[in-house]
Amino acid sequence: MNLDVALSLAELAKLNLAGRSAVVIDVLRATTTITAALVSGAAAVIPCARLKGCRAMRMIEPNLLLGGERGGRRPADFNLGNSPREYTAERIAGRRIAFSTTNGTRALAGCHDAKTVWLAAFTNRAAVAEILLRNKRDTILVCAGKLRLSNLEDTACAGAIVDSLLAADVTLTDRARVAWSVYDQHRGDITAMLRESDHGRTLVDLGLGADIDLCANLDSCPTVGRYLDGEIATINKIV
Ligand code: MLT
Repeated sequence: MNLDVALSLAELAKLNLAGRSAVVIDVLRATTTITAALVSGAAAVIPCARLKGCRAMRMIEPNLLLGGERGGRRPADFNLGNSPREYTAERIAGRRIAFSTTNGTRALAGCHDAKTVWLAAFTNRAAVAEILLRNKRDTILVCAGKLRLSNLEDTACAGAIVDSLLAADVTLTDRARVAWSVYDQHRGDITAMLRESDHGRTLVDLGLGADIDLCANLDSCPTVGRYLDGEIATINKIV
C-alpha cells in the first residue's frame, strides 16, 4: 500500500485520487467536530462548500439542523457552530445536519475522484489507521490546511496516522515522511502544538480554547465517518 499526504489543497490539485482512498483531516476543527457529531448519534452530516448551500437545503428539508462557521463563529441563523462541545446527543441525536466551514468542507469537496473518503482527526487516529490497514488501498491523507496552504496541526495529524502504519507493509512518499517528522517532533504534547499553531491562537483569541483540549485527545474515539453520495455517516467496515 502506498501512503501519500497532500499537505495542502494546492498540493491536492496536483495529485491523482482516482482509485485511491482519501482521508480528509481538519483537526481545528471541522473533522474533529463532524466525528463528535457522529459519536453523538447524528444521522448524517451533509457538507456544503457555502453557507447558502446549507440554507437552500433547509428550504427543502425543514427539520435539517445547520452547523458550521465563518471566521470561527456560528453564522447567526445557524443552529450550531463548529465546536465539538456543541454536538451533544441531546441536541443532535438522530438529526441530519447541513454543515459548512471555511476549509474543512472545501477539502471534502476536493476529494470527489477518490474511491472512498474517510474523515480523520487526532481523536479517531487509531480507528482510521485500522480501516486503512484492512482496506490495503493506496491512500492520500488530505490536509485541509488554511486557504489552500499547509498548516501545522493537519500535517501533524497526517503524521500521526503515518506513525500508526509504520510497522505495516506501507510505502511512504516524501510528503508522508515530512508529515511523520512533524508529528514526531510534537508527539509529546499535542495540546501545546495545537495551542501554538496559527489557528489555535485564533481560537484562543475567540474564547474557544476549550475546543483545543478536545481536538488534542488522541485515540479517544472509535468512530470514523465516511463521505459517500454527498453525506457523511458512520460505516466502520471494509469497503
Ligand atoms: C475550517 O474548516 O476552516 C475550520 O474548521 C475553522 C474552525 O476552526 O472553525
